[in-house]
Amino acid sequence: MQRTDDGQTVKLSDYRPTDFDLHAVELTIRLYEGRAAVRAQLSLSRRAGIAATVPLRLDGDELTLTSLALDGEAVASDRYTATSDALIVEDLPESARFALTIETELVPEDNTQLSGLYRSNGIWCTQCEAEGFRRITYFLDRPDVLAPYKVRVEADKAAAPVLLSNGNPVESGDLGDDRHFAVWDDPFNKPSYLFAMVAGDLDAVHEPFTTASGRKVTLGIYTEKGRVHQAAYAMDALKRSMLWDERRFGREYDLDVFNVVAIADFNMGAMENKGLNVFNHKYVLLDPDIATDADYAGVETVIAHEYFHNWTGNRITCRDWFQLCLKEGLTVYRDQEFSADEREQTVQRIGAVRRLKAHQFPEDQGPLQHPVRPSEYREINNFYTATVYDKGAELVRMIATLLGRGDFRKGMDLYFERHDGEATTIEAFIACFEAASGTDLSQFARWYAQAGTPTLTVREAYDPAARRFEVTLRQTLSEGAAGTGTAPMVMPVRFGLVGDNGADGDPAGTVCGDARIADDLIVLTGKSASVTFENQPSRPHLSVLRDFSAPVTLDHDQDAASRLTLARLDPNLFNRWRAASDLVGDALAEAGKDPLGDSTQPLPDAVIDALLASAGDDALDPAFRAQAIALPAEMDIARQIAVKVDPDRVHDAVESARQQIGKKGYPVFERLRKGFDPRAAFSPDAASAGTRALANTALSYLTAATQDPGSALRQYDAATNMTDRMAALAILAHHFPEEPGTATALDDLYRRFEHDDLVLDKWFALQASAPSHDAVEAVARLAEHPHFTLRNPNRVRALVGTFATANQVGFHRPDGVGYQWVADKLADLDTINPQIAARIATTFRAWRSFEPARRQKIETTLRDLRDIKGLSKDLRDIVERSLK
Ligand code: ARG
Ligand code: ZN
Repeated sequence: MQRTDDGQTVKLSDYRPTDFDLHAVELTIRLYEGRAAVRAQLSLSRRAGIAATVPLRLDGDELTLTSLALDGEAVASDRYTATSDALIVEDLPESARFALTIETELVPEDNTQLSGLYRSNGIWCTQCEAEGFRRITYFLDRPDVLAPYKVRVEADKAAAPVLLSNGNPVESGDLGDDRHFAVWDDPFNKPSYLFAMVAGDLDAVHEPFTTASGRKVTLGIYTEKGRVHQAAYAMDALKRSMLWDERRFGREYDLDVFNVVAIADFNMGAMENKGLNVFNHKYVLLDPDIATDADYAGVETVIAHEYFHNWTGNRITCRDWFQLCLKEGLTVYRDQEFSADEREQTVQRIGAVRRLKAHQFPEDQGPLQHPVRPSEYREINNFYTATVYDKGAELVRMIATLLGRGDFRKGMDLYFERHDGEATTIEAFIACFEAASGTDLSQFARWYAQAGTPTLTVREAYDPAARRFEVTLRQTLSEGAAGTGTAPMVMPVRFGLVGDNGADGDPAGTVCGDARIADDLIVLTGKSASVTFENQPSRPHLSVLRDFSAPVTLDHDQDAASRLTLARLDPNLFNRWRAASDLVGDALAEAGKDPLGDSTQPLPDAVIDALLASAGDDALDPAFRAQAIALPAEMDIARQIAVKVDPDRVHDAVESARQQIGKKGYPVFERLRKGFDPRAAFSPDAASAGTRALANTALSYLTAATQDPGSALRQYDAATNMTDRMAALAILAHHFPEEPGTATALDDLYRRFEHDDLVLDKWFALQASAPSHDAVEAVARLAEHPHFTLRNPNRVRALVGTFATANQVGFHRPDGVGYQWVADKLADLDTINPQIAARIATTFRAWRSFEPARRQKIETTLRDLRDIKGLSKDLRDIVERSLK
C-alpha cells in the first residue's frame, strides 16, 4: 500500500498493484448548510492470488465514518478499524464480488486546504488531484484503480439549483422539502483523482458542438452569478481546442456534454476532471475592461490544456504519481503546439523558453532538483513542478524533433490505440515511438531519469586556406542534489550556417565522434563529437540550438561580430531573438556582478543597435519585435551570475540598460508610438495583442529616457482596455513611485474595480512588485487591507507570492526583513492552506547563490521555519529539501 504519511517516503521501486479490484462506484452526496453526507458503494473483489487473510485497506484523510455495510449488512465492529486516515476491513470474501457501503460526514465549510470537497463563495466544489478523493470517502485513492462512476447529488433547490458531476446527466427531480437531486453517469473508467462534483447557484452559457464523426455535444461554462458574459472567449477557445485536437491528433470528444466551472478559490490553474473541468476563474473570466492580453493568452492555453487532457490524462492515465509527466509534459507540449498554430510560432516558442529558463532552470540547478520522472516523494503535491510540466514538454518536443512530424504522429496514434482505457507508464509511452519509427530510444529515456540542466559546449574553428569550418560539440552534466547520474544523453541540435548576407548555407557536414547529422539536425549521443563543413569560402556564422531544440545551457564562445550578425540577420527568428537576448544577458550579468564595473552604461552600442534594428523593422511581427527588445528578468540575470549575487546591483544594471536603450532608441520608440492608436477597438487576437505589446514597450523606454511620467499618466487616463491601462500603471508604480499621479492612478484603479476580485489581484500584485527597499512595509500594510485574505489562493499569490518572486530588491532587502515577513506569512498560511504555503516557500531555494550576508539570513529564515512545531508535511518537505 502506498502511503504518504508524515516523514514517509514513497518510492517508485515499491510499486505494486492493489490487492483488490474495483469494478464500479456509486456515490450519493447530500449537501446541507454546514455539512455533507457521503455514501459510497464500492463493488470490489479480491485479486487472484491474494490470500483470504489479507484485509482491504482504504485511504482516508481527516474522515469521519458514520456507517459501514457489506452486501447490505452492517459490518461488526471487530471486523474493521476506522481512523481518520484509513479504513481496514478484514474477513472479506475470498473470490466473489462484494459491495462495501461506506458513509462519511464532512464539513465542506471548514475545508480551507481546498482539497477534497469544499465551499467557495457558497458553491460546493471538489478538487481531487492528487489525493483529495480520500478526503471525501475511504477509497483505493491511487491513479491505477479505474472504475465507472454513478453519482447522485442532493441539495437545497435555492442554494444549489445547479448540480453537476462527471459524465452524462441521466436523471433529476424533486425531493420535497425544497430539495432536489440529479444523477450523473460516467461510463468511462476513471481514477478517483478525476472525480468532480459542483453544486451551487451558477449562471451558465451553453453552445452546441458537433465532432468530426457527428457526435452532438453540448458545451457548458458555469460561472458565479452575473459573470457569464465574461466566459465568451473561453467558450471560443474551447471550440478551437476541440477542432485542433481533431485535426492535429485525430482525437474527438466522447461524452454528450462537456462542462467547465469557474471557481474563485482554487489551488492551481484548473483541473481536467472527466467531462467536468473545474477552473480557477482567473482562467475563464475575461473582458477587455478587466483583462490584459496576457490574461487572454492564459485563458486560451489553460482551456486547451485541460481539454487536451481528455485523451492525454483521462482516457490514458498514469499508473502511479511518479508518471505525472506522462500526462502533464505531454499535455503541455500539446497546448504549446496549439498556441503556436493559433498565434505565432516563434513568439510562442520564445515565451515557452523564457518560462523554462525562469522557472525550470533554477529548479533544476538548485536543492529542489528532481528528474522529470521522480523516483521518490514525500508529498506528491510538491511535484507539480516546472520540471514535470515544462521540461516534461521539452522531452516530448525532442522526441518529435528526433522522429520528424510523420513518425511522431504515428507514435502518438499507436499510444492512443495501445493504451486507451489504461493507467500506464513512461516506458510504455516511449515504446510506442520506438515501434512506430523503428528508432531505439533507450538512451533518450535518460532524460526522464537524470536531473539537472546539461551544458552543451560549442567550439568552432575556421581554416581559410582549406575553406573548412569545424564545429565541436561537447555535453556535460554535473551531479546535483538529486544524485541521479550524469551519463550522456541524446541531444538534438538544430543549426544553420549563416552567411554575411543573412542567408543559410548548405548544412551538409561530416561527423566525427558520437553523433549523427541529417539536414539541419545534429544528434549528439556521446560526450563529444565534431562536424566538418567543407567548401566554406568565408567563415560562416554558426546559428546553433535553433528553436531551443534541447533544454540545455549553451556555452558557445562565438566572437562578438558573429553574434551581432545573427542578432540582426539570422533567418531562424527564434535564434535571432536569442542571439540578441544572450548579448544583453551576458552584458547585464557582467555589469551586475562586478562591484567596480560601470553599471551606468552596461550595454555596448552595437548590442543596442541590434535590438533597435529588430524593434524598428516593420517587416517583422510586432509581438516578435516586443520580445526582441524586452530585457531579461532580474532573476534570470541573477541565475546567470550564479554566485555571490547582490540583487540591488542587478536591479541597477537593468535600470541603467533601460535608460540607455531608451535614450539611444528614442526616435525609433517615438515612431512606434505614433503609429499606435490607443482608442482603436479592442480585439484579443494575437496580431492586435502584439501591436499593443510593442507600443507599450516603446512607452516604457520613452519614459525611461526622459524620466518624465507624463505620457504614462496620459495613457492611464485615456486607456480603453486593461492591457494599456496596466502597462501605464506598471511604469508609474515601478519607476515613478514618488509622482503624485501614481498614487492617484492606483487609487483610481482600486475605486473603479473594487468589486472585481481579478482586478484587485492585479492591484495587489502591482504594488507588491514595485522595486524598493520600502516594499516590505508596503506589502505589510497591504496585508492589513480589508480585501486581503489568506483564504483565497489568488490573493495570496498576488501579494505574498509576487513580493517573494518578482520583487528582487524588496524581498532581498539587506537587513533580511523581507525574508522574515514572507516566512511569517507562510507560517500563518500553512495552518490554512499548506499546498500554497509550500509553493511560495520554494522562492527560498536559491539561497546559496546570494552574497554571504543575504545567504546567511535566508538560511536562518529557513531553519526557523523548519523548527516550527506542527508544520504541514507540504511545507516541511520544501523547507527540508531546500536546506539540504
Ligand atoms: N492536473 C491539473 C493540471 O495540470 C493540475 C492539478 C494539480 N493539483 C494539485 N493540487 N496538485 O491541469
Ligand atoms: Zn495538466
